[in-house]
Amino acid sequence: MEERDIYILGIESSCDETAASIVKNGREMLSNVISSQIALHTLFGGVVPEIASRKHIENIDGVISKALEDAEMSFDDIDAIAVTYGPGLVGALLVGVSEAKALAYALNKPLVGVNHIEGHICANYIHDKNFEPPYVALVASGGHSHLLYVKDYGKYEILGRTRDDAAGEAYDKVARAIGMGYPGGPKIDAAAKHGNADAIDFPKVFLEDDSYDFSFSGLKSAVLNYLNKQKMMNEPINENDVAASFQKSVVEVLTAKTIRAAKEKNVKKVAMAGGVSSNSALRLKMKELCNDNGFSLNVPEPILCTDNAAMIASAGFYDFIKGQRDGLDLNANPNLKLGER
Ligand code: KG4
Ligand code: ZN
Repeated sequence: MEERDIYILGIESSCDETAASIVKNGREMLSNVISSQIALHTLFGGVVPEIASRKHIENIDGVISKALEDAEMSFDDIDAIAVTYGPGLVGALLVGVSEAKALAYALNKPLVGVNHIEGHICANYIHDKNFEPPYVALVASGGHSHLLYVKDYGKYEILGRTRDDAAGEAYDKVARAIGMGYPGGPKIDAAAKHGNADAIDFPKVFLEDDSYDFSFSGLKSAVLNYLNKQKMMNEPINENDVAASFQKSVVEVLTAKTIRAAKEKNVKKVAMAGGVSSNSALRLKMKELCNDNGFSLNVPEPILCTDNAAMIASAGFYDFIKGQRDGLDLNANPNLKLGER
């Protein structure tokens, strides 16, 4: 049978980026349009769901048109429409899902609902065209922290997840407490480069010996307590040292658990995904530990780590070739779990 190329239009609107992308055969990114609302939400110190939904509505048509234009394609050239339907902010998700359903109906094209976390993982397939399962993946973003054993495309064993705050959430909350603003991750990353990571001994929470779960709320509280104590005693606060010391605790836990999982699952490959994977200290430490242990490390470039639609189109491709089709009753599911439909 002759193999033909498959073009997927991906749509993402689960949080504060309105994004559309066209990806060929799950791997080749022909366009990647991201309209970020970050500047707007910065005014409020975090994402305001109602504002996010309204902005998605204003932007989504233009973002999709631009994705087609950049790829030099028209709707006729698209084989299917893939859209994030969860997890995320319900109002924000609904904008993308409604748009995708309207397009699928009007154009008479197949519709494929994609799990946002699965999308993050698939960014690795765009980043490295030869990267394939099985591997262990760390997915760390503003909403999720998961450690996964990826057995095959779309087949995941969840080894661990956060019991409270996601890693990115901890970055954002600590950054806010130090007065660095939203989103905190990139700001702490930059500040930490000028700080001493051994200046303050913040807790590293590993939980039970055999657990792959994470917990970051204790670390966040420790940082807040430290800041309060310094203020009460009129002692100076070195923001760069706080950022570097906090980051060290996060990075040590994330990397140690990932490497232990890769050893236990006896894989050769480790992958990272999600906004926090763009963190320079995390990338460096993970690379070092992977080298020491003989694992290869795959990490998408930062623009594919944070929210984008190319990753959704890639995940949609693998679902599409397996025969997954969604009806016009597809609904946003803010609490969608991995592996659930
Ligand atoms: O994947 P993402 O764009 O959205 C979610 O699905 O949540 O991740 C956003 C999160 C934010 O919490 C942000 O602070 C964090 O990723 N982040 C970083 C860095 N860049 C983004 N965290 C640490 N270091 C970074 N360089
Ligand atoms: Zn995300």
